[in-house]
Amino acid sequence: MMYSKVIGTGSYLPEKVLTNHDLENMVDTSDSWIRSRTGIEQRHIAADNEMASDLALNACRKAMKAADVSADEINLIIVATTTPDMTFPSTACILQYKLGIKDCPAFDVQAVCSGFIYALATADMFIRAGRCRTALVVGTEIYSRILDWTDRSTCVLFGDGAGAMLITQSDQPGILSNHLHADGSYYNTLSLSGNICSGKIKGNPYVSMEGNTVFKFAVKVMEEIVHETVAENNLQISDIDWLIPHQANIRIIQSTAKKLGIPMEKVVTTIDKHGNTSAASIPLALDLALRDGRIRPGQHVLLEGVGGGFTWGAVLIRW
Ligand SMILES: CC(C)(COP(=O)(O)OP(=O)(O)OC[C@H]1O[C@@H](n2cnc3c(N)ncnc32)[C@H](O)[C@@H]1OP(=O)(O)O)[C@@H](O)C(=O)NCCC(=O)NCCS
Repeated sequence: MMYSKVIGTGSYLPEKVLTNHDLENMVDTSDSWIRSRTGIEQRHIAADNEMASDLALNACRKAMKAADVSADEINLIIVATTTPDMTFPSTACILQYKLGIKDCPAFDVQAVCSGFIYALATADMFIRAGRCRTALVVGTEIYSRILDWTDRSTCVLFGDGAGAMLITQSDQPGILSNHLHADGSYYNTLSLSGNICSGKIKGNPYVSMEGNTVFKFAVKVMEEIVHETVAENNLQISDIDWLIPHQANIRIIQSTAKKLGIPMEKVVTTIDKHGNTSAASIPLALDLALRDGRIRPGQHVLLEGVGGGFTWGAVLIRW
């Protein structure tokens, strides 16, 4: 049996920090409202000359260093992003060039905040099928460019950043299972509906969402996907050592953990310092928990995400 094994992770946050207090000077909001409703204290904002591929490049270099893998050993690149450098080519191709990798499949996936889960599941299936030895999987986002900075209901929620993971073929797990879902009947609930026509954005160029609907849906599926994942692996919820959920709102994370009976001590959270970095939030949180020594060999780590579409999914890893 062939598995994918994680051999390195890396992450990158842009230098500029935007605090809730900074936002108080921009829109009619308050630090206490943002903290109490979302758990967010600050977020990072990319510099004008930084693109999603630049954030990704920094995260990938750290992952490659951690894994001791050189560019010519990578034979698949999948980038999850909602904020690509260009309409085309893919950010994965631009990243491939910046990394100096000569020839391997490289493509983007678009599943919004579930993007990293979709990308990792896809790379896992390439490896299990024997079509690739070592894959680079990245979530990278610059949401600051698609926010209406006069709309307090959305601009306080998001941040920029990137996270990367290297996985390779192994006869030992590794990734135990992946689970992907989508329900397109909600496509209008969380969206950026503008589209590019003759070089101009036609329609609304900013994130719009029905916050309450997203909140309720997220709590529901974040619980369901954990049950689905542990059942398929003949495990109990108590066997999960670390839950690493998409970081959208601390109240979504706490409600999910409570419904599952998972103590918050076993949940990795970064929402306070990063905000919602969409496809980057899960690999950013994972990299943090690995580097600070929380995740140890033999432990079960469950990654789960939910996002626009709606899309949702999970990947269970035995570390
Ligand atoms: C967006 C979200 C934080 C709003 O929290 P909420 O508790 O549902 O708040 P409501 O939308 O009911 O708004 C309550 C009040 O706060 C106000 N408000 C909204 N944003 C505000 C802000 N940044 N600062 C101050 N007040 C704000 C609203 O106008 C409303 O005022 P009103 O009662 O006078 O009408 C919450 O719904 C959420 O997190 N949803 C999920 C969003 C998400 O995760 N999206 C990405 C998914 S991947």
